[in-house]
Amino acid sequence: LSVLSVTSEVFPIIKTGGLADVAGALPSALAQEGVTVVTLVPGYPAVLTALERQEVLHQYPSFFGGTARLLSGRAGGLDLFVIDAPHLFERPGSPYLAPNGRDWPDNARRFAALGRAAADIGQGLTPGFVPEVIHAHDWQAGLVPVYLSLGDSPRPGTIITIHNIAFQGIFPADLLFELGLPASVFTVDGVEYYGQIGFLKAGLQLADRITTVSPTYAKEIQTPEGGMALDGLLRARSNVVSGILNGIDDKVWDPSADAHLAQSYDRDSLEARAANKRALQERLGLTPDPDALLFGVVSRLSEQKGLDLVLAGLSRLLADGAQLALLGAGDKALEDSFDTARIVYPGQVGCFLGYDEALAHQIQGGSDALLVPSRFEPCGLTQLCAMRYGSIPIVSRVGGLADTIIDANEMAIATGAATGFQFGPVTLGAALDAFDRAKHLWRDKDAWQRLQVNGMEADVSWHRPARQYADLYRSCARAPGGEKA
Ligand code: ADP
Ligand code: GLC
Repeated sequence: LSVLSVTSEVFPIIKTGGLADVAGALPSALAQEGVTVVTLVPGYPAVLTALERQEVLHQYPSFFGGTARLLSGRAGGLDLFVIDAPHLFERPGSPYLAPNGRDWPDNARRFAALGRAAADIGQGLTPGFVPEVIHAHDWQAGLVPVYLSLGDSPRPGTIITIHNIAFQGIFPADLLFELGLPASVFTVDGVEYYGQIGFLKAGLQLADRITTVSPTYAKEIQTPEGGMALDGLLRARSNVVSGILNGIDDKVWDPSADAHLAQSYDRDSLEARAANKRALQERLGLTPDPDALLFGVVSRLSEQKGLDLVLAGLSRLLADGAQLALLGAGDKALEDSFDTARIVYPGQVGCFLGYDEALAHQIQGGSDALLVPSRFEPCGLTQLCAMRYGSIPIVSRVGGLADTIIDANEMAIATGAATGFQFGPVTLGAALDAFDRAKHLWRDKDAWQRLQVNGMEADVSWHRPARQYADLYRSCARAPGGEKA
C-alpha cells in the first residue's frame, strides 16, 4: 500500500512541536506494516539543505505567484517530495512565523500550495509514485481533499489527522480565487466557514476519514467545550472519526543509548540516573542535591499547556527544597515569569527559554517527575518520553494525557499498575493536590521506583498505532486506476 503523507513539519529536519515527531516517526513504523510512505513537505531552507539524491520530478511554470519545482530525495531517513518554490518557502526560521513573531501574511497561499501539490501527486503527476491514500496532517494540509475534488482524474483515499483543533487555518473569503478555488466550493459543504475560508474545516468536511491523536480527544472535539466550533461538523461525521494514540520513536528516545545523557541506563540500572540528575542540576544552576525532588517541564509555553498553574503554585511546589527544571519557548509573558522565578528561587528553579533538543533529553533523563498540566492535550508526547526515561509524569486528566497515564491511586499502587499522577479538573487546587501526592510518594523509594519501572516497561512505541493506521489506510485506499483497492 502506498501513502503520501502531507505535512508542514517533519523531525529531524524541521520541527516546532509534536506534529514533526509524528510525521517523522510514522513512516518507518508503517514500513513494518507493509505500507510505503512518501512525505510531501514545503521546501524551506532547512529541507533543501538536507535533501540528498535530489531529482526534479516536475516543473510548474506558474504556481501560486511564482515558478516551482517538485523534487524528490531523501533526508533524515525519510523519502521526501519537496515543493521547491522560493517565493513561498525560501525563508529561514519558523515554518509559520515571520521574524516579527507574526504569521507570514501569505500563509494561506503557502499552505494552499502544499495542498495543491499533494492533490496533483494524488492524481498522477508523478507516474513513479501514485499514492492509494493521501494522509493530510492539520490545517496546513486541509485543502488536499478540496483540490482533489476539482479534478476529473480518479483520486486516492484521503485521511486528515487533527493534531490540534485550536489551529484551524481561517482566512478571508476574498482569497478564494487566488487559491485557485472556484466559487462552487465556497459552501457549507466545502471550504466556507462562518463567511471565511477554513482550511481545517474543509479537510474535515471532505476527507474520507478523520483521525485525531487519542481516543479521548476524539470524544472531546465532538463536544461544544472541546470542539472549538467544529464539534457540530465532527458529530455529523462521527462515523468516520477515530482516535489513534501517538507513539514515540524508540530509537530517538532510548535511555539505554542516548548520546545527550551523561549516563545511559535502563530499568535495571535506575541508580545510574543520579549522574544525569547531577548534570542537569549543574547545567541549569540548581543546587546539586540528589535528594531534592526535581520536577521537569519540556513544553511550548502557551495557554494550552497550563504552565501558569505551575507559576501560581510555585511556592508550594518548591516547598521542602524541591526543584524545577524548565525548558520552554513561546508566550513572552510566560517566558519572563519563569525567568523571574529563576531569580526569586536561586538554586531551586532553573530554566532555558528557547528550543534545545539535547536539553529536552537531559530533562527526561535527569528529572524525577515531569509536569504536564495542560488545559487540553490532543495526545502529548513528553509524558510518553518521561515514562520511557523513568521520570514520573504528573498530568491533567484531559485528551491523550487521560489515555496514557495510570494514576497512582491506592488501588493502582496496590496492584502495581500505576505509572504517574493525574489530576482534574484543570485548576490550581487540583494541580497542587497532585504535586503533594507526588511529594508524599517520593518519600517511599520502593513505591516510587515501582512507578518508574511500570512506565519503562510500557510499550509507548509506534508499533500498535502504526498497525491501526495501516488498517485505516486499507479501509479507504483506492488503487491508482480509481478502483477501491
Ligand atoms: P505540542 O506538539 O503540543 O507542542 P507534544 O508533547 O506533542 O506537544 O510535542 C512536543 C515535542 O516538542 C516533544 O518532542 C518535546 O520534546 C518537544 N519540545 C517542546 N518544547 C521544546 C523545547 N523548548 N526544546 C526542545 N524540544 C521541545
Ligand atoms: C499537537 C498537540 C499534541 C500532540 C501533537 C502530535 O501539537 O498539541 O498534544 O501530541 O500535536 O500529534
